[in-house]
Amino acid sequence: MKILVTGGAGYKGIKLTTRLLEEGYKVTVVDNFMYGYEPIMFLAENKNLEIVKQDIRYGIENLSKFDVIFHLAGISGFPACAANPSSAELINVRATQLLVDELSKDQILINPSTTSMYGKKGVTCHEETEVAPVSTYAITKYEAEKIVQDRENSVSLRFATVFGVAPKMRLDLMVNDFAYKAVNEGAVVLFDSFAKRTFIHIDDTVNSYLFVLKNFEQMKGQVYNAGAKHLNYSKKDIANIIHTHIDYDIIDSKLSDKDLRNFIVSFDKLEKAGFIPQKTVETGVEELLKLYSFFEYYSHFKTI
Ligand SMILES: NC(=O)c1ccc[n+]([C@@H]2O[C@H](COP(=O)([O-])OP(=O)(O)OC[C@H]3O[C@@H](n4cnc5c(N)ncnc54)[C@H](O)[C@@H]3O)[C@@H](O)[C@H]2O)c1
Repeated sequence: MKILVTGGAGYKGIKLTTRLLEEGYKVTVVDNFMYGYEPIMFLAENKNLEIVKQDIRYGIENLSKFDVIFHLAGISGFPACAANPSSAELINVRATQLLVDELSKDQILINPSTTSMYGKKGVTCHEETEVAPVSTYAITKYEAEKIVQDRENSVSLRFATVFGVAPKMRLDLMVNDFAYKAVNEGAVVLFDSFAKRTFIHIDDTVNSYLFVLKNFEQMKGQVYNAGAKHLNYSKKDIANIIHTHIDYDIIDSKLSDKDLRNFIVSFDKLEKAGFIPQKTVETGVEELLKLYSFFEYYSHFKTI
């Protein structure tokens, strides 16, 4: 089986690629390396891995040779999309359309979507709940999901916010961000501290991708929320969990967050299919605090 991972040099992409190689698959990574090559260099020698520098806005060479495509390339997250709305539209939406147009019907497409599209529902959101995206990121990811699910041989996983350590870090993700600020600034300012979000450890995202790959026949054509019910937390909850590991100031601001998300998510559908994430926020925080004792900050949000 030949597997393509677009965005394979990203936060999730490197962890997914590593795991696929460990499981014996032949993998090709396509990435434009907008965040650099260094994080993926440790995999370069692997004989079962091909790494290709390509911008998916202009199509993907030799696409027909792949049996499975994990489509991770994109402008990821609220801040990066807010800073680069045209790139978000061109890469998240238009390039996904181009990819889908060029796939044959037998090729398998596995798409990381996002629970962010539930917006500020303030209620428990199932896959059938009407979405209400409130950011450029969520709007473009919802458009991409519709494009993907319009073809038969696809699965979209609406991921919770990922946390945890990876070779290429993302510091804009809430748990990663709060833990970093707790260590390096001694304080975290909370805007809308009551707002509820939902979280998943990066290792469990990789496990969920593998689960879909191995159970594709039963899952195809479907959208699944990907996370766990025990990982629905408010921002204040996350700050308090970190506080049990490190002493720092939690400042509850009267100002509102520009990011309006506030929702609780049901993961029953994925659980019924047989997948439950295992790692807790507590475990992820321990791993992050260990990393941040020597980690140097670099900016994720350069202009594209
Ligand atoms: N991390 C999360 O919390 C989360 C949650 C839900 C969904 N997702 C989705 O998962 C996917 C991967 O997320 P991530 O956290 O690894 O993000 P990331 O930003 O770390 O990785 C994205 C990768 O895509 C590459 N890329 C961007 N534009 C490209 C282009 N035009 N051509 C080729 N490559 C390009 C980047 O270089 C990067 O390596 C994204 O689609 C994201 O929307 C992430």
